Amino acid sequence: MNDRELIEAAARARKMSYSPYSGFAVGAALLCEDGSVFTGCNIENSAFSPTNCAERTAFFKAVSEGRRDFAKIAVVGGRADLATPEYCCPPCGVCRQVMKEFCKPDFEIIMAKSGDEYKIMTLSELLPASFDKREV
Ligand code: THU
Repeated sequence: MNDRELIEAAARARKMSYSPYSGFAVGAALLCEDGSVFTGCNIENSAFSPTNCAERTAFFKAVSEGRRDFAKIAVVGGRADLATPEYCCPPCGVCRQVMKEFCKPDFEIIMAKSGDEYKIMTLSELLPASFDKREV
């Protein structure tokens, strides 16, 4: 699967977003090293803190299905009333820490408005000097 296809999968997942409180819809598509793809969307809650981000939805689906090796993730996020986001939405800090648990420093995060407009950063760029108890 190429980057454009992964972004398109994230954009499709974004349509499943349950975000009545923020009005901000996010979709993610996680590519595993075996070629399988797990998608996710943000799922909000009236109590707010139970809200789950799109990226973590994708990771938790994948890990719960036995995957541990990941190649890259595409993220598409923006105002729910806009079909195409206004900017390339980066993952939140909590999601970066979840990525850190399972991914190597060169894991790629594709932040996309569309299949034509996106930027790519590695996990180590987005989460430098990160906590990892295995390094202590
Ligand atoms: N959100 C994500 O799904 N991923 C992120 O990395 C950032 C934030 C969601 C959470 C909430 O439902 C909405 O975007 C607004 O913060």
